[in-house]
Amino acid sequence: MHTVHPDVERILIGAHEIEAIIARLGAEITADYADKNPLLVAVLRGAVVFMADLMRAIECPLSIDFMATSSYGSGVTSSGTVRILKDLETNIRDRHVIVAEDILDSGLTLSNLISMLQSRDPASIEICAFAVKDIDGYTPPVTPKYVGRHVPNEFIVGYGLDYAERYRNLPYVGVLKPEVYS
Ligand code: IMP
Ligand code: MG
Repeated sequence: MHTVHPDVERILIGAHEIEAIIARLGAEITADYADKNPLLVAVLRGAVVFMADLMRAIECPLSIDFMATSSYGSGVTSSGTVRILKDLETNIRDRHVIVAEDILDSGLTLSNLISMLQSRDPASIEICAFAVKDIDGYTPPVTPKYVGRHVPNEFIVGYGLDYAERYRNLPYVGVLKPEVYS
């Protein structure tokens, strides 16, 4: 048992639910990629915790790599413009790529990233998002094949997700108290 961080309004996804989500995603990917030697790509820094859990739940050969994109500032909304800060070290031509993301909000970050990776001629490219934010009347420009969980349109932290680089180390996903960022 750990105490809830004082800046967290409520826990949205607890450690046990995270475990179940990871097991399910791992089984789905294992079944789909059994003989494909996929490359699992994590987008730094938010997806690191998710990636570390997910890769251990996948029971087929795979390799991993990392990318870093800029999100501009420490705010709570996405600008959509993506700048590559750190590129892959792996040549993805003819590889089966799975991009692991912490959360899909507007989806602009991922949609930019996917088009960029697509131009390198991978055999296939899919998204595995730990969380997908449900926004009323909005359809994101990309559809993840693998979804951990849908979350309400609130600002969440923990399990890799930050606000101004804080809270990434929380072992659960919690809703941040609005007074912390307003
Ligand atoms: P998008 O381009 O709007 O989909 O934004 C995706 C990125 O914004 C994620 O990779 C996160 O880094 C960040 N983000 C979006 N929503 C949240 C949130 O609720 N908490 C923490 N980070 C978030
Ligand atoms: Mg982020």
